Amino acid sequence: MDQDTPVILVFDSGLGGTTILNHILARKISGPFIYVADNKFLPYGQQTKEFIQERVLEIFSKLNQKYAIKSAVLACNTVTAYVAEQLRGSYNFPIIGMEPGIKPAIKVSKNKNIGILATEGTIKSLRFTSLVDQFVSKEHNLIIIPGNGLVEEIENLPDSAEDLLNNLKPKIKQFEDAGIDVLVLGCTHYPLIIKQLKSLFSNNIEIIDTTEAVVNVLENALKAECFPNNQEVDVMVSDNSNSYYEKIRKVIQAASIKQIKFI
Ligand code: DGL
Repeated sequence: MDQDTPVILVFDSGLGGTTILNHILARKISGPFIYVADNKFLPYGQQTKEFIQERVLEIFSKLNQKYAIKSAVLACNTVTAYVAEQLRGSYNFPIIGMEPGIKPAIKVSKNKNIGILATEGTIKSLRFTSLVDQFVSKEHNLIIIPGNGLVEEIENLPDSAEDLLNNLKPKIKQFEDAGIDVLVLGCTHYPLIIKQLKSLFSNNIEIIDTTEAVVNVLENALKAECFPNNQEVDVMVSDNSNSYYEKIRKVIQAASIKQIKFI
């Protein structure tokens, strides 16, 4: 797409951000869009804070030189936790981040036992700790479990289906033993396995993911803008071995998807 066209950037380490992009497309928010997956360094949730900050700032700087970015969606909880503030300090366009939906979970939970599944990076972040400090009172019981291994397994589905279930089972058991009635999905990859998650819980639990809320924020940020209706998506991946681009293309629900070279 031409470099003066205002674009909306959607960024994640891999496939997870497509859960956000597809929602944006379904809501008919007008692009064009660039979807950037830094799959070479996936899973971000197991990288250090310093690495993620350096890497994401570098990618944004290159993208900003090449494109007229109108708005960026950090379709990744881990990136939001570590880099959102620095990015907001560096760029004038709206930068929309995401965080685990602790606040909505507190509203929904009847028995006050709340499960949170997120990447280790998100859980260890200061941003997550302050979110908990801000909204969670003593009467709530938070069961926080890092989803180590899940992102890689989700990326490798269907081949990794069995490993995924074996990884999920003990985590779900911990949640069930604690009697949670609400589970917060704190990683954009996890909505891709919502069926598997639901099938493993013996009781009906409420699942909270913040996709909808993030898309609302984007819509509000763009309200004043007048784009021609455009649902084109250009996809950039940092490692195209094993036809990673094709894998992403299959998941994105847009009529026109093109591969472009990683910056
Ligand atoms: N999808 C990302 C998130 O929401 C990160 C996944 C990863 O690469 O660990 O946290």
